[in-house]
Amino acid sequence: MTRNELIAALPKAELHIHIEGTFEPELMFEIARRNGVKIPYANVDEVRAAYDFHNLQSFLDIYYAGAAVLLYERDFYDLTRAYLLRCREDNVTHTEIFFDPQTHTARGVAFETVLNGIERACREAQEKWGISSCLIMCFLRHLSEESAFETLAQALPFRDKITAVGLDSSEVGHPPAKFKRVFAKAREHGFLAVAHAGEEGPPQYVYEALDLLKVTRIDHGVRSAEDDALMHRLVELQIPLTVCPLSNLKLKVVNDLSRHNLRHMLQRGVLVTVNSDDPAYFGGYVNQNFIELAEALDLSNDDIRILCKNSFKASFISDAEKKAWYRHIDETV
Ligand code: ADE
Ligand code: ZN
Repeated sequence: MTRNELIAALPKAELHIHIEGTFEPELMFEIARRNGVKIPYANVDEVRAAYDFHNLQSFLDIYYAGAAVLLYERDFYDLTRAYLLRCREDNVTHTEIFFDPQTHTARGVAFETVLNGIERACREAQEKWGISSCLIMCFLRHLSEESAFETLAQALPFRDKITAVGLDSSEVGHPPAKFKRVFAKAREHGFLAVAHAGEEGPPQYVYEALDLLKVTRIDHGVRSAEDDALMHRLVELQIPLTVCPLSNLKLKVVNDLSRHNLRHMLQRGVLVTVNSDDPAYFGGYVNQNFIELAEALDLSNDDIRILCKNSFKASFISDAEKKAWYRHIDETV
């Protein structure tokens, strides 16, 4: 089997995917039209031409503008269904989906509208295609601690539908420490915790996410490689990093994929995984991330198998389910 055939054939979990980041321009136009919302582009080509980013913030400005056409439960359902169809194509058999309630509640969309639309699509994907999923509710770190507390309160009636809390949006200047208390409260309520850290921000933010927010997984975390003691800790405790290669390239976290540090971290024994982050904006879903990274770093077929096993190992599924997926991977030859 060639490397690309193996990538396509192996089952995998996706652990770093923002549902709002899967909003393809075609669907954006369709939903904007039916909702009577104006968007500042004439056609999908113009939208794609605007996806030329120089850092995280330049992307976030466009990403939040795009999300503003989502108003009704059906919109969130359609968005999520389209992503889950892509999961089926890429052999993503389990996905842990981020959503940003504050992006929508700030515009007057009810928390319940967002959650119900996403959840209905997930339930159907499980029934029809056997794709399992869970939801991670992210707090926007550029907003206040108070706003995060309000969002947590809105989530409590739906506690059983949300597995974990996360932290995303503009990283630099908004350290994890700002959300120490709200994460403590969320953990008291039984939510697991993850956080974006070490994407643009320094290794210090990864330490804070671990020590103050008590996360069990770091999103991105690529700047951890700048701190040897931190690398030791990640290896020793097998703390997963959900790495997003094409995102790192498009947001200029790396200048060239051949300079990406994932292979180095993999060889040092860090539990790294490959994910797509915001695939509609960064040029590829999970298999495309694998293909381009493998080409740039000359990853072996064994490396690909390890990365797919890592995706399940780092996920929130049970140990028995993990073992079953490892077996599937070993049996794919
Ligand atoms: N929201 C969506 N994608 C993000 C990323 N890569 N970093 C921080 N916040 C995000
Ligand atoms: Zn992200």
